[in-house]
Amino acid sequence: MTERYSNETTTIFHGNCLEVLPGLPDGSVSLVFADPPYNIGKRFAEFNDIWPSDDEYAAWCYEWLTQCIRVLKPTGSLYVMTSTQAMPYLDLWLRKHLTVLSRIVWHYDSSGVQAKKYYGSLYEPILFCVKDAKNYTFNVSDIEVEARTGSVRKLIDYRKEIPTPYKTTKVPGNTWYIPRVRYRMPEYEEHPSQKPEALMERIIRASSNVGDVVLDPFGGTFTTCAVAKRLGRHSIGIESQDEYVRIGLRRLQISTHFNGEKLYPPDKSYVRKNANGIHGGAVNGLQAGLFDD
Ligand SMILES: C[S@@+](CC[C@H](N)C(=O)[O-])C[C@H]1O[C@@H](n2cnc3c(N)ncnc32)[C@H](O)[C@@H]1O
Repeated sequence: MTERYSNETTTIFHGNCLEVLPGLPDGSVSLVFADPPYNIGKRFAEFNDIWPSDDEYAAWCYEWLTQCIRVLKPTGSLYVMTSTQAMPYLDLWLRKHLTVLSRIVWHYDSSGVQAKKYYGSLYEPILFCVKDAKNYTFNVSDIEVEARTGSVRKLIDYRKEIPTPYKTTKVPGNTWYIPRVRYRMPEYEEHPSQKPEALMERIIRASSNVGDVVLDPFGGTFTTCAVAKRLGRHSIGIESQDEYVRIGLRRLQISTHFNGEKLYPPDKSYVRKNANGIHGGAVNGLQAGLFDD
């Protein structure tokens, strides 16, 4: 059974996206960001992220993707996160239905367990697709980054009639280095696959405008909705697990209670203190170290 919770900016559906999506109107959202389970055996509360075969997993993805494409406006964009293993299935299918404009590599480092007999997995692909390659939103000036030329002096473009310094900013390339969400970051929530706000910020700024509707069929901790709200967008998030819906209701300030129970942020009271007795390591919410290769 599906429950619906909302305030002025955000709607949260507690249910299976395959049941919720058919209820959303055709062509009603500007941006879809989908971060599904990857079929790699992760545990999401009561949900076990494993399918009997790659083909069955792909068939499940095609079902919700079909719905996402239906609800997307003709000028809309769809970003799909996927595992390296599943990407070929989704890429081949998506290019029959949309135009795949970029295959983004979100990469990060890991201090955790490292592979010893092969190269460790330190990236996740993101497919950026549009319905109409001639008419879609892409707000270049909202996402430009520093163009790192490697030179200290300003480089001059002598090919121009009047030599002028090269532009010092550029549209990010398709490899994005953004640290994963760590326990000590203010944005941290208890979820095995929370995505960084910095990642969502770039996507939402680039591919939607203030007042647009952003849809996330696999809400998790509702990072998409939280960032959409901060950037003046409306959003719809769907999540099947109670545990994560509770996070969304609190994070989006839709409700202070769930099933009569008060909702609290993660308890980090046991964070180590530094030498001055101050709780350590509060990292700037916008994550230092964000850069592109
Ligand atoms: C990879 S996580 C999303 C993480 C999210 N992007 C974030 O930043 O927190 C995928 C989520 O999809 C949820 N989920 C799995 N199957 C679902 C379904 N059929 N409908 C809705 N949610 C589902 C899982 O419980 C999990 O929280």
